[in-house]
Parts: sequence; structure tokens; C-alpha cells
Amino acid sequence: MPQFTRTLVTTALPYANGPVHLGHLAGVYLPADLYVRYKRLKGEDVIHIGGSDEHGVPITITAEKEGISPKDVVDRYHGMNLEAFTKCGISFDYYGRTTSEVHHQTAKDFFLEIEGKGIFQQKTEKLFFDRKANRFLSDRYVTGTCPICNNSEANGDQCEQCGTHLSPLELINPKSKFSDATPELRETMHWYFPLGSFQQQLEDYVTLHESDWRSNVVNYTRTWLKQGLNDRAITRDLNWGITVPLERDEAAGKVLYVWFDAVLGYISFTKEWAAEQGDAERWKSYWQDPQSRLVHFIGKDNVVFHTLMFPAILMAWNEGQQSDCYNLADNVPASEFMNFEGRKFSKSRNYAVYLGEFLEKFPADTLRYSIAMNYPENKDTDFSWQDFQNRTNGELADTLGNFIKRSIDFTNARFDGVVPCNVTADEWNDLGIDWHDTLEQLDRAYEGFHFRDATSVGMDIARAANRFLTVSEPWKIIKVDRNAAARTMALSLNLCHALSIALYPVLPETCNRIHAMLGFDGPLEDLIVRGASLFADLLAPKLQQGHKLRENSEILFTKIEESAIAPELAKINTLLAEAEKREAGVVESRMEFKPVISFEDFQKIDLRVATVIAAEPVKKASKLLKLQLQVGSVTKQVLAGIAQHYSAEEMVGKNVLMVANLAERTMRNEVSQGMILAVDGADGKLFILEPSGTEINGRAVQ
Ligand code: MF3
Ligand code: ZN
Repeated sequence: MPQFTRTLVTTALPYANGPVHLGHLAGVYLPADLYVRYKRLKGEDVIHIGGSDEHGVPITITAEKEGISPKDVVDRYHGMNLEAFTKCGISFDYYGRTTSEVHHQTAKDFFLEIEGKGIFQQKTEKLFFDRKANRFLSDRYVTGTCPICNNSEANGDQCEQCGTHLSPLELINPKSKFSDATPELRETMHWYFPLGSFQQQLEDYVTLHESDWRSNVVNYTRTWLKQGLNDRAITRDLNWGITVPLERDEAAGKVLYVWFDAVLGYISFTKEWAAEQGDAERWKSYWQDPQSRLVHFIGKDNVVFHTLMFPAILMAWNEGQQSDCYNLADNVPASEFMNFEGRKFSKSRNYAVYLGEFLEKFPADTLRYSIAMNYPENKDTDFSWQDFQNRTNGELADTLGNFIKRSIDFTNARFDGVVPCNVTADEWNDLGIDWHDTLEQLDRAYEGFHFRDATSVGMDIARAANRFLTVSEPWKIIKVDRNAAARTMALSLNLCHALSIALYPVLPETCNRIHAMLGFDGPLEDLIVRGASLFADLLAPKLQQGHKLRENSEILFTKIEESAIAPELAKINTLLAEAEKREAGVVESRMEFKPVISFEDFQKIDLRVATVIAAEPVKKASKLLKLQLQVGSVTKQVLAGIAQHYSAEEMVGKNVLMVANLAERTMRNEVSQGMILAVDGADGKLFILEPSGTEINGRAVQ
């Protein structure tokens, strides 16, 4: 086991295309923050590097949905997420952006280095191309009919209705999401990273760490290794991203694949951090000194990118290098998922509690505590409002808050606000717990990434302390034995101090308030010194006889009333009802907006009110009705897919809204000269739009 003198902690870079939610916090950012804050208290050299993932298709899709530029999208969500993290006390040393110049340069350097060594392969493949939009279509940009379930709105990578994973080539009637054009197959060349060439090195790497990595991490990685590693395309035809840094025609219009660039963000941001510290070369001591330890905090969906892809990229760089080699991750503590009220968080379905919104209503420390107690270390866990309320009211307010306030108030009232006597390390054991052993448990829990255990040990100390104070009854004893009461209070105050350190990683804001109530000037962080451990200090009571407390105490946690969580619970029910409806097969796909069109485009649509003058079924097409529509003085024939909802007879005489200038199409040997408008209703029903009123047989007003 190598001795490390330094630790570089990274957290997965969230896509800057939406606000982060409690699931992100629980799996990645809070555990990393607990770890980093603990290491800092121990006086270790540790930095936490994170930032926004600002490239890739997820960003461009959001931009198109919202009708703004990708740059607008990332500007908005980078700022929003950084603000939410800051408010939550996630103490990044640096929070970067992959759109930065330093990052673009770093990624290009890596590409060129690996290209220069002849490691990449170039391969030509056939991909869908939208001739109208003049661009290649990544999987998500192709839609069409699912070959399995006939859903006409399947995506190129997956059908949402039946869940089948698809490739765009499997879709029936593929369409481009940009223009509705039928895409054509075109040859395109891409650079591939030959992951397979690193198979042996990667297997050795995993074997080396197998005993100290989490079993989920080892399992995911081993599954991939067993299947044999394939070449991975690391470029894309896209106009948003880091351009392939070659002055050749074949590189034109191509960008680096977002995963190739994002993982390198960890390096770029460390460089930016070092420059900000005024020591531009300092990043190297975290990345290239074998005495420095690299730890990636991620969610389980990102495992192989961090245990195979990124290490292989670094191996490719290190190949043939005499010095300045990059370290590979020493550990990758990937979390399972935290669910929300029994269901998966889902950004696309809006089934989530967003971090920023949460913190507008409740204090960060209460959230940190209840999430840490539900840390999804080995299995998925659940966040529920009830649990949040119970923990806040019971554990934080009644146990921790109550103990601190009673200790300080009683000392202020009866002992002039000073620690009345000295207590020895042996007297810790009056608490009924083995103090030495407790501190060791705490250390083992933090060092082993067992954050639920670490938090519980802290709360166990608070519980023992609260019990000790209650049972000792200094308010009674003081009448007969002032010295005994003094000893109780001296011990209690030292416990307040010990708790302010032991729980600091989880409750940084609260512990700073305890620190201030205990009479210290300045924030608790001021006591942190490189090379000296505040944890080791806890072995002996710290507050000496005569230490002066602050005169007034404060209530650390306000209880959460039923009335505060009732609206949250009501909201869940609405969200759940919506989710259930969707899962039952009611397609509410209207959430996905199509790309924005101009007003001029909209005006091209000739919307008319028409009257159905005749209707009949179409042979061998159980869904179609053939309608004759009177539009002003002309008659048009329209085939409408409404036969399962309306009979031919009931259609006759109805007024309908129609698109009158749609290009003619032939279906089942019948021509269709337009389209009538209808909406999806509940339970899969369909309702045609029926304008009513007088004199409406004309143009619809746009
Ligand atoms: N943006 C990715 C996601 O949200 C994570 C990127 S992690 C990094 O799944 F290593 F690539 F940065
Ligand atoms: Zn399907």
C-alpha cells in the first residue's frame, strides 16, 4: 500500500442542461464533500475539483427544445448549479467549465499526443444525414416507428414505449428531428480509440485495486472486460464541442466525443485552480506525483468511463513517457442511486426535487444530514419527506440541538459562562461509550467511504451526551454538590466541542455556530492547519477550566411542522399520479417540444375550418377513415387515423380544423390531401378538434 501525501478528489461533471437534484447530491457531491472536509480537518493536503460538462448532444437537445443557443443553455445552468452547490456547502476548491480555453487546449493536446503516437484508428461508417438541415444525425436526433411495438415516436437509441434499445438503422420510416426529412445514409469518417489494445493493462489495473474498490464498481468493470473491449468512436459530426485539432479536410465539422473531453476536464480544472493559486505548475503535483492519490466520486451509471475509458486515455498518454506520467485513479467510490419517495428521480419526467428549490425552503445542514443518513453506498436508497422531517425533528433538534443548548444555557446561568473545571481523558468514558474506539470507528468510516456509518457515529456521540446530561441532572445536583455539577458541565461542554469537530463534515454551518457559542472567534476552519489533525486532538478534552463561552445561545434547528411538508407531499402525489399514468401507457409525449420554427414558417400552414360531408372506412386499415371535406367551395379528401375513436356515421356533419395545404400523400392506394387536427385525451382516447359557432366555414385565424 503506497503512502500518499496528497489527495485529489474529483466529482462527476454534471451536464449543464438542467438543475441538479437531490439524487445527484446524494450519490456524488455530498459524499465527496464529507470526505474532503474530513481530510481537511485531519490536516491533510486535499483538493476537490468539479465543474460543468458543457458539451455533447444533451446540451444541444435542450437548446433546440428551448429555442436558445447551446451557449445560453450552459451559461444558465452552470451558474444555477454552482449557486445551489455553494448554498448547500459543497466546498469545491475549483468548479470549472468544459467550454473554457484551458480545457479546449488540454483536450486538443491529448488528442494530438495520442494521434501522434498512431494509437487512434480512422474508420468510415454509414450514418444518417439530414440533407435539409445539412448535418449528420446522432442517434437521439432520429425518430421513427419502433420495429417491436409500432410506436411511431421511437427514438434512434431507444423506444420509450416498449423500452427496447435500438439503433437508428432499425427504425421504420426514420425521420430527422430537425426537419422531418427522411434521412439518407452517408459515409463519414471517425477517429476510434482502440480500447481493446489496452485490455491487458486495464485488467491488471483492476486486479490491483479489486480488494479495495466497491463490489459494484468491480462488477460493472469486470462485466465489460469479460465481453472484450471494443474500439470506441471518439469524434462526432456535431457543431457544438471541441473541434478536432487537425487542419485536414477530413477533420472539418467534427468535434471530440463528449466523454473523451469531459473526463479530461478534471485535469484542465486542476490547471485552472493552480493558476488561480498563483502557482501554475502546481497541478502536476496532484496528477503526476505518484505520492498523490486520485479519487473519483461518481454515480453507478458512470463507472466504466472512469475505470476503463479514462485510465486507457491516460495510459495512451503515458505510453513511452519517461517522466510526467499521469496517475490512475486509486479509488472510484461510485454510488448506487437514491430514489425519491419510492421512485427513480427523472429529470426528463420532471420527477425530482431540485437542490436550489429545496434550499429555498429548508436549511442546507438538515438536508445534508438526512441525505448522509441515506447514502446509497451498496444499494439504492430512498429520500422521503417523512424521513427528512423525522430526522430533523428527532435527531437534529431534540438530540443534538437540545444537548448543545442545555449545556451552554446552564453554564451561562449557573457557572458565569465559563468552563468550571478541568476534566481528564479518562472521564470521557463516563459517557458509557469507549471514546477511543468511537474515534477510530469514525476514522475508519470516513476513510472507507462509509458515509452513513460516519454520520451515525457522530449522532451516537450526541445521543450519549444528551443522555449523560439528562441522567446527571446537574440542575438538581448543584443544590447539594456544586463540584459534581461542575464536573458534569465541564464534560458536557467538552462534548459540545468534540461534536462540533466530529459532525463538522456533515453539518459545517451548524458546527460553526456551535464553535461560536463556545466562545471561539472566527470560523472553525481557521483552526485547520496542514499537518495537524483536529480529530486526533479529540482524544483529550480541549476546553480548559476558565474558558469563556459566548453569553447567548441560539436554537440550532427549528422543527419542521406538518404544515411545511404537507404541500411537498401533495406535490409528490401529483407527480406520482402523472408518472403512473405514463407508466400505464398513456403517452404524454407533449413534454418533448420540437425544434422552434419561425413565425414565417408557422404562417405557411393554411389552417381551415371544414365540414365533413361524407365518411367511410378504408379497407385493410382499421385505423383510417376516408373523409370528404368541404372547404369553402372545394372538396378535399383526407385519410384520418381516427377510426378507433369515431365511426364514419358520427363524423358526417361535423366541423373540423384542417391543415389544407399539406403535400398530398397516398396511403392504401388512396390519396390524402390534408390533415385534420385532434388531441390525445386520457386513457389513450383521441378527440378531434371541433370548432363551433356561426359562420365558421373559412380560414382559421392565425
Ligand atoms: N456529464 C456526465 C453525466 O452527467 C458525467 C461526466 S463525468 C466526467 O452523466 F468525468 F466526464 F466528467
Ligand atoms: Zn417499441
